Amino acid sequence: MRVSIVIPTYNERDNLEELFERISNAMKGYDYEIIVVDDDSPDRTWEFAQKLSERYPVKAIRRMDEKGLSSAVIRGFKEASGDVFVVMDADLQHPPEKIPELVEAIEKGADIAIASRYIPGGAVKNWYWYRKLISKGAIMIGRLALPKIRDVKDPVSGFFAIKMGVVDGIELNPIGFKILMEILIKGHYNKVVEVPFTFGLRKAGESKLSGKTMVKYLKHVYRLMHWEGELDRIIKFTLVGLSGVFVNEGFLWAFVNFLGWGKILANIPATELAILNNFTWNDLWTFKDLKRKPPWRRLLDYHIAALTGALVQWVLYAGLVSLDFNYLISNLIGIVVSFVVRFLFNRHVTWG
Ligand code: GDD
Ligand code: MN
Repeated sequence: MRVSIVIPTYNERDNLEELFERISNAMKGYDYEIIVVDDDSPDRTWEFAQKLSERYPVKAIRRMDEKGLSSAVIRGFKEASGDVFVVMDADLQHPPEKIPELVEAIEKGADIAIASRYIPGGAVKNWYWYRKLISKGAIMIGRLALPKIRDVKDPVSGFFAIKMGVVDGIELNPIGFKILMEILIKGHYNKVVEVPFTFGLRKAGESKLSGKTMVKYLKHVYRLMHWEGELDRIIKFTLVGLSGVFVNEGFLWAFVNFLGWGKILANIPATELAILNNFTWNDLWTFKDLKRKPPWRRLLDYHIAALTGALVQWVLYAGLVSLDFNYLISNLIGIVVSFVVRFLFNRHVTWG
């Protein structure tokens, strides 16, 4: 198997020599090439990469017309001639010694092999607890919002290997912020494995990914949710919820007016009928492609979701009010959070 190692660079001149040397040591016995995609760096990384191609199998690309990490990786794929593509950073935060393990995982049948910080054996060097928390929180959001990648522990890693076919004929969005996540959502693959590694310290130069990173990430997650049809599900779930309000009100009115039931007790069957209404529509419409559990199990789980949502709503309301928040705003927060909880529970459990 021929391996193409794609390395996007911007001002990484001082890292190249050690990087190539370590790759060449790690890749002894492999047929491989290194593809450096540089965005016309002021420190002339592209020029130095070109020079080092006398000693190492390097193809240096100097991009003049385009910028950005993801689009650089996509360009690298287009230039690659291997059967396996490896993507890694130039700053030695990704130890080249891990490449053979990633390639081996592919040889053993994986379509995507991810060097992962967040599986046992993996780590991040010198990150404060809050950096780790933000990183893990961001990943958690991605995994909840995009059920397709929920089993992947580090879907935003910049260090991974894929079989060439995974991205064949796929339209990858060059402004997609996290290229691995883009591939995990849009690529053709069956098996993903993660290999632990320690995300090291940057050797020279500085990180380019700061500032609006989080906003860009959330936008990317949003775009991928749209692509996956998850946004449509949220809209359908909302509409079904609204229909339930009418069912609830209608029956309550009927029970009180026609059957003469007590106003407090009549609310219980009215609510249950609304839950059954919502379940039916969500089962036939919102999640119609996801009926993996038996019907009684879905119905039971749906009730658990409804109950949990109600509880969360009430606890939040009571808690915020007792903290002297405005009661109407507290109620609104409760409603919104309850909605999110119910949607996620149903998406991941009831129809998971
Ligand atoms: N061509 C090109 N164009 N390369 C770029 C650009 C760009 O606009 N921006 C960054 N790079 C290159 C850098 O030169 C480096 O080789 C690599 O992309 C990663 O950039 P860093 O600036 O070192 O990113 P980081 O260390 O903050 O983030 C890394 O870790 C994250 C996980 O925490 C990256 O691997 C991310 O993709 C990853 O999500
Ligand atoms: Mn880095």
